[in-house]
Amino acid sequence: MSDFVRVAAASDLADGEMRQVQADGTDVLLSRVDGAFHACTAFCTHYGAPLATGVLDGTTVVCPWHHAAFDVASGALCEPPAPDALRTFEVRVEGDDVLVRVPEDADDHGEGIAYRESDGETPAMASASASEDDRVFLLLGAGAAAEACAEALRTEGYRGRIVLVTKETRPPYDRTKLSKAYLAGDAGDDALRLRDGAFYESHGIEVWTDRTVTGLDPDKRTVTFEEGDPVTYDAALVATGGTPRRVPVQGADLDGVLLLRSWEDAQDLVRRAEGVESVAVIGASFIGMEVASSLRARGVDVTVVDREEAPFAATLGPEVGRVFQSAAEEKGVSFRLDASVEAIETVHADPDDETPRRLRVVLGDGDVEADLVVLGVGVAPATDFLKRAPFRRDDGGLEVDATLRAAPGLFAAGDVAAFPDPRLGRSVRIEHWRLAQQHGRAAARNMVAEGDPTMSSVPFESVPFFWTGQFGVNLRYVGHAEEWDEAIVDGALDEREFVVAYVEGGAVRALAAVGRDRDAAAFHRLLARGAAPSPDAFRAGVDLQQALRDVG
Ligand SMILES: Cc1cc2nc3c(=O)[nH]c(=O)nc-3n(C[C@H](O)[C@H](O)[C@H](O)COP(=O)(O)OP(=O)(O)OC[C@H]3O[C@@H](n4cnc5c(N)ncnc54)[C@H](O)[C@@H]3O)c2cc1C
Ligand code: FES
Repeated sequence: MSDFVRVAAASDLADGEMRQVQADGTDVLLSRVDGAFHACTAFCTHYGAPLATGVLDGTTVVCPWHHAAFDVASGALCEPPAPDALRTFEVRVEGDDVLVRVPEDADDHGEGIAYRESDGETPAMASASASEDDRVFLLLGAGAAAEACAEALRTEGYRGRIVLVTKETRPPYDRTKLSKAYLAGDAGDDALRLRDGAFYESHGIEVWTDRTVTGLDPDKRTVTFEEGDPVTYDAALVATGGTPRRVPVQGADLDGVLLLRSWEDAQDLVRRAEGVESVAVIGASFIGMEVASSLRARGVDVTVVDREEAPFAATLGPEVGRVFQSAAEEKGVSFRLDASVEAIETVHADPDDETPRRLRVVLGDGDVEADLVVLGVGVAPATDFLKRAPFRRDDGGLEVDATLRAAPGLFAAGDVAAFPDPRLGRSVRIEHWRLAQQHGRAAARNMVAEGDPTMSSVPFESVPFFWTGQFGVNLRYVGHAEEWDEAIVDGALDEREFVVAYVEGGAVRALAAVGRDRDAAAFHRLLARGAAPSPDAFRAGVDLQQALRDVG
């Protein structure tokens, strides 16, 4: 065991402050809360953001990049998308010196299921001994929501069988990287897996790949598959995500018109993009714009086509959208906006040659020719196997109650779930990675509680959050506002350093931030505490970090 080393003067750190310091060559996050000093790993276990650049609220630190939250006192992981807890280190105060002792293996994060329970302790993981509990919990889809649910079931103390089912050929992976680092060529296959295979084995989580769900009978609690025998469950989670849409025009399914949802889609796109000169991207929202950014980084000529006046116009408003448009144009991307796709055709080298050479996106006013076309025009909930269920809406979403329950023993989470938003007072369906993981965790708790009279179900109340990164511009978005009466801008859009508060029904429902990560994290905590500043406060230029400190 190494010795204690001095890392700071106690008087250097006010209460409620944190700082990155060095102890024996190891980066440590030192924080002071209610007079007590805490030391833990300095970097987020998700993608390694320096936590000292986030926000400290009580003993909770919010990561500046994708808003994972950790408890600095116990190291416990409180909110996704980070997979693991932080390591904590011993702290001693002598006079005005703060001393920290880090073990020699301090940089190893280790892998563990480490969510915090409400009492602030890191829960022990239940063992997966089937002999103690013969229940079967079936988790349909092995994406963000189902994977998080599987892990959380163990932290909730569930000891029966957990079966994660996916039609894909691979165990759970990080879908969000597909359109970013993976497509740009900055991350390989190894960087995509959420956990290694041994992890699921050691936690008694069965992963069934290549299994397509074809039916679910909520009354008989039975699931049928394209291949293999039906399975009867005690509790099930539907978390089958979305099926990407094609534009409803002739030629939308031609060879060379590609979708991006799965690892296989991304591999196909990477393979086909090698050696091509040009790609037309239809859809200037998240997938389309990220694909444009990553393909441009590969040196491909990209034209983005959308019927809106600016990228992201529907989600963020045209003013914010134009920030991304200008960043894309600086990198050489062309746009065809306010444009309606009428058809997609093949272009032949000469009339006698049947071999298609290129594709033509037919627009009302001038066409776009390209070697490939990528569609990023949204997804539909992948719930065809539940077509006759009374809780399935016309849009394919599954209506659930506040505990994410659709029927007895049946829960839904992630992109498919239409859940009551406690802040908006209506049912919403939100397609975000972090929210899907939060759903998965909440559903786990309620699946266990349903069969245990000593436990109570908990309503889902977490704050939605998403991020996107493209053309060097990173956006954080907290809350949810589908339509808004006013968008209050604080900062400079043209300098790509601003927050925008979206006002609906007299309250700020959501905030988008570029270059203001700390403010976005502070707003996240304020919204979660029901203390979001008023529209008037935003108009007057509220200091969000101070507002959080004032809430105390
Ligand atoms: C390329 C890309 C980039 C993204 N980037 C971001 C981002 O930066 N930030 C963000 O917040 N969100 C992002 N998203 C959205 C985010 O990935 C989704 O909101 C999230 O994955 C939803 O999780 P889920 O568990 O509901 O569904 P998914 O993660 O889609 O998992 C569903 C799983 O169910 C499987 N499945 C479907 N039907 C069946 C069936 N019948 N039988 C068996 N298995 C089935 C699917 O194959 C899939 O593996 C991105 C999405 C994509 C496609
Ligand atoms: S790097 Fe911390 S949440 Fe992603």
